[in-house]
Amino acid sequence: MSGVLEGRCALVCVTGCIAAYKACELVRELQRRGARVKVLMSEHATHFIDPTTFRALTHEPVALGLFDDPSDPIHHISLAKEADVIVVAPATANVIAKMACGIADDLLSTTLLAATSPIIVAPAMNSNMWRAAATQENMQRLRERGVLVAGPGRGYLACGDVDEGRLIEIETIADTVEQALCESSALTGERVLITAGPTHEPIDPVRFIGNRSSGKMGVALARAARDMGAQVTLVLGPADATAPWGVDVVPVETAAEMHSAALSAFEDATMAICAAAVADYTPAQPSDHKLKKGVETLDRLELVPTADILHDLSAVKGERLVVGFAAETGDPVAYAQAKLARKGCDAIVANDVTRSDSGFGTDTNKAWWITTDGAEELPVLSKDELAREILRRLK
Ligand code: CTP
Repeated sequence: MSGVLEGRCALVCVTGCIAAYKACELVRELQRRGARVKVLMSEHATHFIDPTTFRALTHEPVALGLFDDPSDPIHHISLAKEADVIVVAPATANVIAKMACGIADDLLSTTLLAATSPIIVAPAMNSNMWRAAATQENMQRLRERGVLVAGPGRGYLACGDVDEGRLIEIETIADTVEQALCESSALTGERVLITAGPTHEPIDPVRFIGNRSSGKMGVALARAARDMGAQVTLVLGPADATAPWGVDVVPVETAAEMHSAALSAFEDATMAICAAAVADYTPAQPSDHKLKKGVETLDRLELVPTADILHDLSAVKGERLVVGFAAETGDPVAYAQAKLARKGCDAIVANDVTRSDSGFGTDTNKAWWITTDGAEELPVLSKDELAREILRRLK
């Protein structure tokens, strides 16, 4: 990744926290890695460190108030446009909450709202404030929007506690800035097809056969692919998870609908990831009216197999990459290796759905990346992190 910051403009947003002085080191580190650095401070940050310090370090004016620069009447827009990458360090609970809610009441928050470049947040606060449900929910919202998070770390805090909440090491923040810049365009030009969620196979107009898939993994993949610059088509079954903005969503109900939507979207795609939990069987003859208890007997439900979407995409993929998932309750690696061969795809992400930290409805996954070269074990990751890990392997 070295050199990725060369000649790029990094905007460092400093908020009001005792760790504000460490932002000086961050400015220096980003400059050392080749960036031109500009600094934007919140009003509270100026109580901890004087803007003169940043002016001296950057040789640039320090952005402070919304109406401070008479030569630039829309300063927040020009700052947002100029930045190739934005890092909020230290990020207080307050600025995180403002970002999560889209509050724009000063130069810093309006600039963040107007930004289209990658944003990195490095939180620093008291451990109870960090663990507070409100902060954790806000962080989750930011992650879901593609904000990369560096830290916080554990250690001595200004309040005297030794706990989680410290600004993470400057090197780590700078590495995350480089990673964000690299990844923001890693899939530019790619058109990624993703299947996600369960399918519902109708028995009659009110009943169906379904499964426990929440659609979270496929939605996380769609979000991550979008953030890496891809054009994304998400063929989404009736899932709990909400489709992210900025992706083309094709809503479907049944395995047959998902099959035809996926095959048609694949014609224009450059790669495909099948994360959907597709029903393997569907009722042979769904009733066109609600089956009435005591009137009609339902002692047998005849099922017929559905078409295998992953297999059929792999059959026409040519040079394009196709990745599948395997949700297993036994030996995930062995089952997934067999699936890889049977379906003809390039890789399978296997996970053990019997674990409490993996599978349907959870926010984390324990996975193995299976190719013909072997099985790579991944640590327990959030679904957003796993999505990035998968996409990094496809660029
Ligand atoms: N898949 C698919 N179409 C189907 C069934 C599965 O595209 N009709 C895809 C899934 O999206 C996943 C992969 O195949 O990427 C494996 O799904 P899984 O349900 O684990 O495997 P099955 O082939 O259904 O095998 P089994 O249920 O016996 O484990």
